[in-house]
Amino acid sequence: MKKFKRTLITSALPYANGPVHIGHMAGVYIPADIYARYLRLKGEDVLFVGGSDEHGVPVTIRARKEGCTPQDVVDRYHTIIKKSFEDFGISFDVYSRTTSAIHHKFAADFFRKLYDDGKFIQMESEQYYDEQEGEFLTDRNIRGTCPYCGNTESYGDQCEKCGRDLSPEELINPYNAATGNPLVKKATKHWYLPLDEYQSWLEKWILEEHKEWRANVYGQCKSWLDSGLHPRAVTRDLKWGIPVPVEGAEGKVLYVWFDAPIGYISNTKELCDAQPEKYGQWQQWWQDEDTRMLHFIGKDNIVFHCIVFPSMLKAHGGYILPDNVPSNEFLNLEGDKISTSQNWAVWLNEYLEELPGKQDVLRYVLTANAPETKDNDFTWKDYQARNNNELVAVYGNFVNRAMQLTKKYYDGIVPKCGELTEYDRQTIAEFRDVKERMEALLDQFKFRDAQKEAMNLARIGNKYIADSEPWKVIKTDPERVKTIIFISLQLTANLSIAFEPFLPMSSARLREMINIPSAIWTELGSMDILPEGKQLGEPVLLFEKIEDSVIQAQIDKLEATKKAREMAKAKAAPVKPLCTFDDFEKLDIRVGTVLECEKVPKMNKLLRFLIDDGLEKRTIVSGIAKYYADPSALIGKQVLFIANFAPKEFKNGLVSNGMILSAVDADESLVLTTVERGVKPGSQVG
Ligand code: MF3
Ligand code: ZN
Repeated sequence: MKKFKRTLITSALPYANGPVHIGHMAGVYIPADIYARYLRLKGEDVLFVGGSDEHGVPVTIRARKEGCTPQDVVDRYHTIIKKSFEDFGISFDVYSRTTSAIHHKFAADFFRKLYDDGKFIQMESEQYYDEQEGEFLTDRNIRGTCPYCGNTESYGDQCEKCGRDLSPEELINPYNAATGNPLVKKATKHWYLPLDEYQSWLEKWILEEHKEWRANVYGQCKSWLDSGLHPRAVTRDLKWGIPVPVEGAEGKVLYVWFDAPIGYISNTKELCDAQPEKYGQWQQWWQDEDTRMLHFIGKDNIVFHCIVFPSMLKAHGGYILPDNVPSNEFLNLEGDKISTSQNWAVWLNEYLEELPGKQDVLRYVLTANAPETKDNDFTWKDYQARNNNELVAVYGNFVNRAMQLTKKYYDGIVPKCGELTEYDRQTIAEFRDVKERMEALLDQFKFRDAQKEAMNLARIGNKYIADSEPWKVIKTDPERVKTIIFISLQLTANLSIAFEPFLPMSSARLREMINIPSAIWTELGSMDILPEGKQLGEPVLLFEKIEDSVIQAQIDKLEATKKAREMAKAKAAPVKPLCTFDDFEKLDIRVGTVLECEKVPKMNKLLRFLIDDGLEKRTIVSGIAKYYADPSALIGKQVLFIANFAPKEFKNGLVSNGMILSAVDADESLVLTTVERGVKPGSQVG
């Protein structure tokens, strides 16, 4: 492998249209931070770049919804996001924003160079246009009916109901998501980056020269390349964004995915220009072959970071390309996809208000469940279990025992190490190569496993102290206890180093307790970090047990979100496509009186009704048993049913002759549509 002089770490710029949530953290920022901290611990030259992605349509949508300007929106969320990152110890060297003047100029110049060098093609196309508003609509601003599942609120780029990727052309009855106005097609001119021209270069660079990239990243690139690249528009008809710096491009801005990755460069420039003595020139980070660049991203960003942005850099010339793109899969929340628009998330700012001081707990759990190779799930129960059974019971408990015993027996002074027993030697051997093991994992971005190694040190310590029983031995062999405590304290010191990249806040607290100013990575695995005679500080608890009630409150909060969402959905249940009188006439809806109603044995979803339909008695089977604990309560009620519904036979031979009408309420309870008593059975409804 090539030897580099320095490492540039970028992490995807989050959209400033909402706070950041645990999915962002698990997927991007925690892994990037672990890696940056690890390299700094090793004494390497690192620059960790972040910032807010402040252009793009979602920002304008939110602004319109809230009745404020896009700038208001991004000002608000940039502040919230930046603070969350600080609170969680994400150690950016720079965290700026794409609305900065430096960025606007840098991105416009970048575009202009490509334009002047003839790297773009210009094409006219038909785009959806809202005549009333006098504006072109981008994919996200267009809604309409999904041709696959009939969802009438599908987005122009994706249907959230069936999950399919779409293009706005596929939507039936497209309309402006913001105003509801119907859309017409209108010709407009845009600049395209002809990715097809970079196809063979990309194939060589990725498929041949970067076989070591994670399978998910490599696989996605391969499938994009295999299906053939096409020119991609890099401008949009929008008001919010960086104006296209070309004559005759009024009303057009750079596509957000064109300007945002350039933000990595302009943010670096902002930092280097401000502190050149400390950070050097920005060109050294972006244009020197001795710099190793890594993009930390989530899987929805792969194509932009592996195909589009590298092509932009290549088109410009003079830039280095990423050496690796460690992209994660997605983190789900309690089994459901995290979604900003659906408010299905644990937001960092709220987490901190509700669970103050527990940043490292979340960092730990998110790394333990990091979606490194497949999607993973965050659950509050698992969060509690990992806190109570691992952080408290293993790590915290061990450190606390070692510290308390030192205080009790030796006034907090590191005792002298005596002769080692066979068991001591075994224990020491077990963790001697922890540094090499962790490095091997960290170097491959296997953060989950690396963190496990750190926790394993605490397990070794816990077992050692439990097996050695210093509290008993002190009565018979006080000299021996000195050695036990000495070894335990060295393990404690090792923990403060091993956990530093993962749990920086508790590591700092631990270092304070053992009185060492900074973690020295090369000491990891060593047995003489704390010399005999050293005075230690006061023991404090590193972690605290989290009670059931605290967890239940979080689960309840999510439940409430779900309820609210379902209510909203039910209220706004989209009306199905129009039907004619003839369509309606096909249905023969009648009133019937329930004569019998009972659960169907062995088929626990079904209720069997016997209905007086005015002419005769008919059996109707309905899959609504779960809504009625006592079906007999329905006897005597009058219900609506479809009399000419095609008969349906069930597995057990039961035949249903009709369908009973019922309404599902927003909270998932169900009610039969009954009619006032006294209507003659068999009366037709129409
Ligand atoms: N804002 C984008 C997202 O959240 C990521 C932008 S990454 C950058 O998906 F490279 F464009 F900055
Ligand atoms: Zn759909």
